[in-house]
Amino acid sequence: MVGIAAAGCGYWGRNIVRNLYQMGHLVAVADPSSRILDGLRPAYRGVELTTDFDRLLEMPAVRAVAIAAPAEMHYDLARRAMGAGKDVFVEKPLALKVPEAEDLVALARAGGRVLMVGHILEYHPAIIKLKDLVDSGELGEVHYIYSNRLNLGKVRKEENILWSYAPHDISVILLLMGVMPEWASTSGESYLQHQIADVTMTCLAFPGKARAHIFVSWLHPFKEQKLVVIGSRKMAVFDDVVKEGKLKIYDKGIDWKDGQPVVRQTAESTLFFPEVEPLREELAHFVRAVEQRSRPRTDGDNGLRVLRVLDACQRSVDGHGMPVRL
Ligand SMILES: NC(=O)c1ccc[n+]([C@@H]2O[C@H](COP(=O)([O-])OP(=O)(O)OC[C@H]3O[C@@H](n4cnc5c(N)ncnc54)[C@H](O)[C@@H]3O)[C@@H](O)[C@H]2O)c1
Repeated sequence: MVGIAAAGCGYWGRNIVRNLYQMGHLVAVADPSSRILDGLRPAYRGVELTTDFDRLLEMPAVRAVAIAAPAEMHYDLARRAMGAGKDVFVEKPLALKVPEAEDLVALARAGGRVLMVGHILEYHPAIIKLKDLVDSGELGEVHYIYSNRLNLGKVRKEENILWSYAPHDISVILLLMGVMPEWASTSGESYLQHQIADVTMTCLAFPGKARAHIFVSWLHPFKEQKLVVIGSRKMAVFDDVVKEGKLKIYDKGIDWKDGQPVVRQTAESTLFFPEVEPLREELAHFVRAVEQRSRPRTDGDNGLRVLRVLDACQRSVDGHGMPVRL
């Protein structure tokens, strides 16, 4: 047992709490809402429940803190936890400002603390397989990737759709591309609230001709979470909404014969995976990092890279879609 406390037990935090408890690592939960804590009491006997975050930091049984509080609190809570000698798992985004994220990365390095960001898709078995396919050259050279993350709700009042949804898409795209984009251009518009974009469309330009497009919206009639990779040899589709057949490989493309484009349309194959909850995989990875003092795959630097891209996209939104260099 590692001894982990969860900070923030709202919509997403309750999944973290459930998993850590089932894994036998949960010792305490902090949330300012006593209504939420009262709701937890019957199912989490033996777990300390407190409205005071600082109480977690005083507990010797707490070796690590998992933060799922609202994004604008990540920096302050992660900083205080590391200052108290705890390892930290923090939900995406790592922080809201690049200098804050840099500070967290520096603190983790100086104090020898584990700092991990909840870029959950990097722990999804389909994404891990997709990364293998890209790295092995199975898809050929990656021409472009697009990622759609669309739904009706959950509308947030503090951050816009870009900061709420796109960290997932950016983290996967950076993983697959293996390099940072050279520039970002994002257009966004707010329909429901003043100056909080509900819809954004991003283009990321990578060295050479590779491009990525990210379309996110919480004002959309149905749920879609689809990532498509177009390679020079094959194409791949990751559909996270369907129950089965989440990852498909298409042996399709355009060949040139006698100077004419000819459609190549052969087999489509579906890849199957063990049924695992990506959040469980992610938290197990964090526990291993704490126990073995190893660097998590989605460490602070990874979180910082995603934040740099988010920051460039936001500056582009503010500049009505102007390209921003990274
Ligand atoms: N990985 C994913 O797929 C995923 C999905 C949804 C949300 N998230 C992330 O999880 C985080 C929380 O999102 P949510 O949807 O659960 O929000 P939420 O508003 O439903 O829950 C946040 C909780 O944090 C609590 N809180 C506020 N201040 C606190 C403090 N000082 N200490 C401890 N708890 C505090 C609130 O009372 C609330 O219960 C966000 O960073 C979000 O981006 C990740």
